[in-house]
Amino acid sequence: MDQINILITGANGQLGHEMRNVLSGDRRYNAIFTDVAGDNIVSLDITDEAAVEHLVADQRIAVIVNCAAYTAVDAAEDNEPLAARLNGDAVGILARVAHRHGARMVHVSTDYVFDGQGCIPYTEAMPTNPQSAYGRTKLDGERQLLDTMGDDAVILRTAWLYSPYGKNFVKTMLMLGKDKPALKVVFDQVGSPTCARDLARAIVTVISADEWHGGIYHFSNEGVISWYDFTKAIHRLAGITTCDVQPCHSDEFPAKAHRPAYSVLDKTKYKTTFGVTVPYWLDSLKDTIDQLLTYNP
Ligand SMILES: NC(=O)c1ccc[n+]([C@@H]2O[C@H](COP(=O)([O-])OP(=O)(O)OC[C@H]3O[C@@H](n4cnc5c(N)ncnc54)[C@H](OP(=O)(O)O)[C@@H]3O)[C@@H](O)[C@H]2O)c1
Repeated sequence: MDQINILITGANGQLGHEMRNVLSGDRRYNAIFTDVAGDNIVSLDITDEAAVEHLVADQRIAVIVNCAAYTAVDAAEDNEPLAARLNGDAVGILARVAHRHGARMVHVSTDYVFDGQGCIPYTEAMPTNPQSAYGRTKLDGERQLLDTMGDDAVILRTAWLYSPYGKNFVKTMLMLGKDKPALKVVFDQVGSPTCARDLARAIVTVISADEWHGGIYHFSNEGVISWYDFTKAIHRLAGITTCDVQPCHSDEFPAKAHRPAYSVLDKTKYKTTFGVTVPYWLDSLKDTIDQLLTYNP
C-alpha cells in the first residue's frame, strides 16, 4: 500500500503533539512533523512561502494539516498584525501552495469567530461576528483558505482545547489547586472542552474517510459546562481536596480580550458526515488527568 505524505505544521503545540501520538505507528501515512523551531523536528516557518513551497514539492505532500497558530488570545489584542500574519496570511500561504501542488488541507479554527451571544449551539451555517483580535484573525484565515481551496479544504472549529502539553486551563487549574487554599472561577461562560487527542483523532477521521468531504465542521467533546464546573471536575479527578473553588461572574476577572459567554458548537455535521460518535468531555478529561498524574504525580 502506498503511503500518503502529510505535512503537519505547528507540531510542537498541543494539537501538533497529539497528531504525533495519534499518527505514530499508522502505516497509512508518511507524516512530516514541522514547527517554526525546536529540537528533533523539521523546521518550517509557515509565514515563509518559499520554504513551504520547497517542502511541499520536495516531499510530494498530499495533505497539509495546519496545527500552527498564534493562540495567545489576550496578547493578540496588542499584537493584531502579528496574529494576523500567522492566523490569516500564513493560512493563505499554505492554501496557495497546497492548491498549486494539488494537495488538500485540514485547518483548525475556533469558537471565537462567533460573538458568544447565542443560546443554542452554533452550527457551521450561523453568522460569524468575532469580538476579539484573535477571533478576527482566525476568521480571516478561514476566508483565505476557502477562497483559494474551496472544497479541497476542511476547517475544524474547536473550543476549550487542552492536553498534557504546553499551557492550558486544565494544567493551570491543577497547579492552582495544589498551591492555593481557595479559587474563584467564572460560571457565566459555558462551552464544551476539547481534548486535543480527540481532535487529532477527528483530523485522522477526516483525512482517512473513503471520500473527501470539504467544508467547515464543528468539533469539541460532548457535553456543556461552565469553567467553574470544569475546574471542580479537574480537581475531583486529580484528588485535590484542599482548594475551595467558588463560582464568580466574568466581570470579577477583566481580561484584555473579550471572552464568549456561550461557546457551544453543534457537532451534528461532523458526526453525520463521518458516521462517528464523539467522546464525552468527562471521560476524555479523566484520560488526560490520569496521563498527567502518571508522569507528574
Ligand atoms: N488552545 C485553545 O484553547 C484553542 C481553542 C480553539 C481553537 N484553537 C485552535 O487550535 C489549533 C491548535 O491550537 P494549540 O493550542 O495546539 O496551539 P499551540 O499549542 O499554541 O501551538 C501552536 C504551534 O504553532 C507554532 N508556531 C508559531 N508560529 C509559527 C510559524 N510561523 N510557523 C510554524 N509554526 C509556528 C508554535 O510555536 P511557538 O510555541 O514556538 O510559537 C506552536 O508550537 C490552533 O489553530 C488554535 O487557533 C485552540
